[in-house]
Amino acid sequence: MDKENLVKEGYDKISENFLSFRHQFDNSQELEKFVEYLPENGKVLDVGCGVGIPVARFFVQNDFDLTGIDISEGMLTKARENVPKAQFFLYNMSELDFLDNYFDGLVSIYALFHVPKKKHGEIIKNFHRMLKKDGYMMLVFNPRENEGVDDFLGTDMYWSCNKPEISRKLVLDAGFEIIFESF
Ligand SMILES: C[S@@+](CC[C@H](N)C(=O)[O-])C[C@H]1O[C@@H](n2cnc3c(N)ncnc32)[C@H](O)[C@@H]1O
Repeated sequence: MDKENLVKEGYDKISENFLSFRHQFDNSQELEKFVEYLPENGKVLDVGCGVGIPVARFFVQNDFDLTGIDISEGMLTKARENVPKAQFFLYNMSELDFLDNYFDGLVSIYALFHVPKKKHGEIIKNFHRMLKKDGYMMLVFNPRENEGVDDFLGTDMYWSCNKPEISRKLVLDAGFEIIFESF
């Protein structure tokens, strides 16, 4: 099975249980900081949105116009139930074709590390294309370099993560400036 299908099928299987694990990770401080840069009611794209909690829900509660995309129909079904005021689409993040200069903000939290590393540079460049010139992005990676298949919540899952210095270079090469980092 190819890696993207393994990830998709894995998340379809664990979509019911995902929230029982997700609460161990708190990105609320970074999200609060991030939204200070965005215009009121701005358009935000959540890439690899999962079940919509906590991230998509946070943006909707703060009156942003939230679009979420995910490769797993199972995760999207839960997201639509959890955050009915957002719009959610089935997409592979490697193939996003929203308009140029469209979103005010883009977030991708714990998702890029499920795509083979060799694609990360092109994906981040495409994120830059879809953001307005004064747009902002928040990416959350695993700070540990890794590659391979491992058990995750009882299913096989594929991971591919660069060292922070490589990820930082890919972000800069795509045309972004870095405003804050946290580990
Ligand atoms: C660890 S979960 C994180 C979900 C959410 N961002 C959060 O913070 O709770 C990773 C999500 O990325 C999605 N994903 C993985 N590979 C993807 C791809 N190539 N395109 C779109 N979504 C993907 C998975 O289906 C899953 O919902």
